[in-house]
Amino acid sequence: MKALVLSGGSGTRLRPLSYSMPKQLIPIANKPVLAHVLKNIQELGVTEIGVIVGDWAPEISDVMGDGSRCGTRVTYIKQDEPLGLAHCVELARDFLGEDDFVMYLGDNMLPDGIQEIAEEFRSARPAAQVVVHKVSDPRAFGVVEFDQDGQVERLVEKPQEPRSDLALIGVYFFTSAIHEAVGAIEPSARGELEITDAIQWLVTQGAEVRASEYGGYWKDTGKADDVLECNRHILAGLSTDIAGDIDAESEIGDQVVIAPGARVVRSRIDGPAVIGPGTVITDSHIGPFTSIGSGCALSATTVEESIVLDGAQISRIEKVHYSLIGRNATVGIGAGTPAPHHRLIVGDHTRVEVAA
Ligand code: TTP
Repeated sequence: MKALVLSGGSGTRLRPLSYSMPKQLIPIANKPVLAHVLKNIQELGVTEIGVIVGDWAPEISDVMGDGSRCGTRVTYIKQDEPLGLAHCVELARDFLGEDDFVMYLGDNMLPDGIQEIAEEFRSARPAAQVVVHKVSDPRAFGVVEFDQDGQVERLVEKPQEPRSDLALIGVYFFTSAIHEAVGAIEPSARGELEITDAIQWLVTQGAEVRASEYGGYWKDTGKADDVLECNRHILAGLSTDIAGDIDAESEIGDQVVIAPGARVVRSRIDGPAVIGPGTVITDSHIGPFTSIGSGCALSATTVEESIVLDGAQISRIEKVHYSLIGRNATVGIGAGTPAPHHRLIVGDHTRVEVAA
């Protein structure tokens, strides 16, 4: 079996961060989402991985490399425009050949693993096996409807009156039967070749399409709040690992990771929290549920339930809560700012919430 990971797309819901980086490289517990995805794929014993990339191709290949460090082989496949999930399958036709494959959205997190579902697919080899998850509001998702025998009968995009609460999440298993289906469909009203249309085509043709329920934790990290929620969940499983320098006046709680080259001075770190290499924390309180990237400087600040990306600087802020701070951003009270004012230099589509 091969894998096809989709890491193109526009990432509009994750602006402004996605203006300067691909959303698949946003760190969760200080590791890119895409690294979590590739780890899940390696757990299936898959070593041939195709990665669809758009405009951020160089940034993604710089960080993820050729896969050899993890015993895999990564092939990058360029998609010039995000023309849909089924378009990705079409582009990867040569890479996939006649092999079975797992298609995995590069911004989806399924940390509890999909080995069991992969085993089911490997032994039964239906034309398609989709992964579904119970959701509270199926109207926002692609939903799978079943007939009386539990066979997949219909896939419906964002149904107004859902007949099922099982939504398609970002993992699909296919045999080479999917290629004929992709060739048979037309672009949807939004101009994309939809994978749901291709799977529906298989159902209509009488091919076997199965659905397996994933009962673990799932998150689509396409939006800032979901990234923060997912970070919280992943950090909850953190094990202590202290390599950086901590002075005698600092206090470190349980479930804290401090990378080599990081320094903690007169500060308190409440786990779960991870501090990246080269970061300096001074006179501050960090955590719980917080990730700080590499090369950051935090002073006289409290940061909780947040993600701070590499190179950011935060100073003299009483409480940064549930926040996502981009790379090399500067947040703080400037020396020349008169006390009751906020002075803001923020990019397009930025969201700032200030409480008195
Ligand atoms: P989406 O999150 O559905 O789309 P998007 O990336 O364009 O995001 P937004 O809605 O915020 O603008 O895509 C799911 C995953 O599939 C994501 O990792 C990007 C990837 N993708 C491609 O690689 N090519 C495509 O043509 C599309 C539509 C998505």
